[in-house]
Amino acid sequence: MLGVDIEEVKRFNKYLKNLNIIKRIFSQEEIDYSFSKKNVAQHLAVRFAAKEAVWKALSGSNKKVAITDIKVINDKYGKPEVFIKDKKTAKINLSISHTNKYAVAVAIFCKNLKSI
Ligand SMILES: CC(C)(COP(=O)(O)OP(=O)(O)OC[C@H]1O[C@@H](n2cnc3c(N)ncnc32)[C@H](O)[C@@H]1OP(=O)(O)O)[C@@H](O)C(=O)NCCC(=O)NCCS
Repeated sequence: MLGVDIEEVKRFNKYLKNLNIIKRIFSQEEIDYSFSKKNVAQHLAVRFAAKEAVWKALSGSNKKVAITDIKVINDKYGKPEVFIKDKKTAKINLSISHTNKYAVAVAIFCKNLKSI
């Protein structure tokens, strides 16, 4: 199953003025990664897009997850990987991209893979 989402980066620039909102939405790893980059809001926006895309990909399945159960952490090559409730899942493939205006994410849930 497939999920896609697009976000406007400017919304996340606004959130930067209220760290409580950011802490409610993102994990500490996602916050640390995004704040280590020059364009913080872009990295936050794309992680939010990724959570929504993953949620959409899972929505037709019996896997009930909240947006905040979904976490995106890059591997050593920079490729984003999906964690559900702190557990890495190989069943969801994710691709993300961002510019100064928009952040986009596409997720595919391959439910027939044996491991999650
Ligand atoms: C990784 C790469 C494709 C990213 O593309 P980009 O246009 O710079 O940036 P995008 O906004 O489209 O994508 C950025 C996201 O790509 C993801 N990404 C990084 N490395 C990745 C990899 N090895 N595999 C999959 N995704 C990757 C990251 O999630 C990153 O977002 P994040 O930092 O917020 O996590 C690019 O930087 C790259 O290294 N390309 C290699 C090809 C190359 O060497 N080209 C130059 C010679 S032609």
